[in-house]
Amino acid sequence: MHQLTDITKHFVLQFGAEPSLVIQSPGRINLIGEHTDYNEGWVFPAAVNKYLWFACSPRTDAALHITALDINEHAVFPADDLSKDGRLWLTYLKGILFLFRQEGYDPGGLNCVFGGNLPIGAGMSSSAALEVGFAAAVNHLSGAGKSRVELAQLAQRSSREFVGVPCGIMDQFASSMGKKDHFILLDCRDLSFTYIPAILDDYQLLLLDTGVTHSNAGSEYGTRVAECRQGLVFLQQAYPDIVALRDAEVVQVQALAALMPEKVYKRSLYIAEETRRVGEAKDALLEKSWGHLGDLMFATHRGLQHLYEVSCPELDFLVDFAEGFPGVAGARLMGGGFGGCTLNLVKRGVVETFIAEAQEAYLHNFGREAAAILVEIGAGTTILHQA
Ligand code: GLA
Repeated sequence: MHQLTDITKHFVLQFGAEPSLVIQSPGRINLIGEHTDYNEGWVFPAAVNKYLWFACSPRTDAALHITALDINEHAVFPADDLSKDGRLWLTYLKGILFLFRQEGYDPGGLNCVFGGNLPIGAGMSSSAALEVGFAAAVNHLSGAGKSRVELAQLAQRSSREFVGVPCGIMDQFASSMGKKDHFILLDCRDLSFTYIPAILDDYQLLLLDTGVTHSNAGSEYGTRVAECRQGLVFLQQAYPDIVALRDAEVVQVQALAALMPEKVYKRSLYIAEETRRVGEAKDALLEKSWGHLGDLMFATHRGLQHLYEVSCPELDFLVDFAEGFPGVAGARLMGGGFGGCTLNLVKRGVVETFIAEAQEAYLHNFGREAAAILVEIGAGTTILHQA
């Protein structure tokens, strides 16, 4: 874990001069709408005040010298060496370089130190922050002039085509396009979006980290994507107007229960239900119906647990605990699943006691700590300094 000043100080120490470019790239939360993005559905994320910072300067030669300070790793390679050496963080960065170069943009040689206070593998999209932050740096240094939406799209393409993770666009979009104190209601079909003020009155958003690290690169994510595609084929045979799973009504899926393999049916049903919940959650937020919003979060968790089957005992335990705790309106696993954090909507007055009691119960059950992360909703990827 590092702060901005640690990154810039290390840069000066390593390269003997101040960086000419400093970029801040945030992680994200997602209020609701999980696994809907790659089904052309809606998501409801926000960028948060946990960041990766990139300190950079161009070099006169064509080499890249990159230090990942949080994990104390360093890579030096010629600009045209886009081979993968097993270091995932470096593959993410090379994917960005690859796509820029494909379009004829070359940042040339580069010194870069990056790191921050964004937990890795906690479901807060450290990989998207890495991709988008680096893409913003390359964009600047190569003069590509891409917009923030285009940077999100490029970062997602890099994940899919270079890194090999079949992800949707939610994480990259949230990291790039976040706005202070606003959620982003994003339609992943056409990338139209609305900023919705995150006014939570007496409530606060709290993450509890199971400490179980998840990785999108894990095969289960790809399996869910494939199962959704299978579900779509069944649905399209019955209802030709359906273009993606997000178009399917719950009753339409239910009508095909006997036809579909059980897993495919459960995945499809979850997506149809979750699609409906996102719209309801937006209304609940605007109407300040905290009880209803919280119930939708619990319903999402149960769907992810029983239908989509991407939860784990640690996540279920924390959600069960939250459900029985007065003052907690809602809780659910957040992100891809299989570990990472729960997102909790908690009354301000009980935040401290909830954290203490949840942590004690978690420690007692699993023998490990569940870190509490209180998040504020912040801006998307930002150039903090340019010489
Ligand atoms: C991961 C992916 C996203 C999205 C979520 C689940 O974070 O990167 O595209 O699919 O899982 O909602």
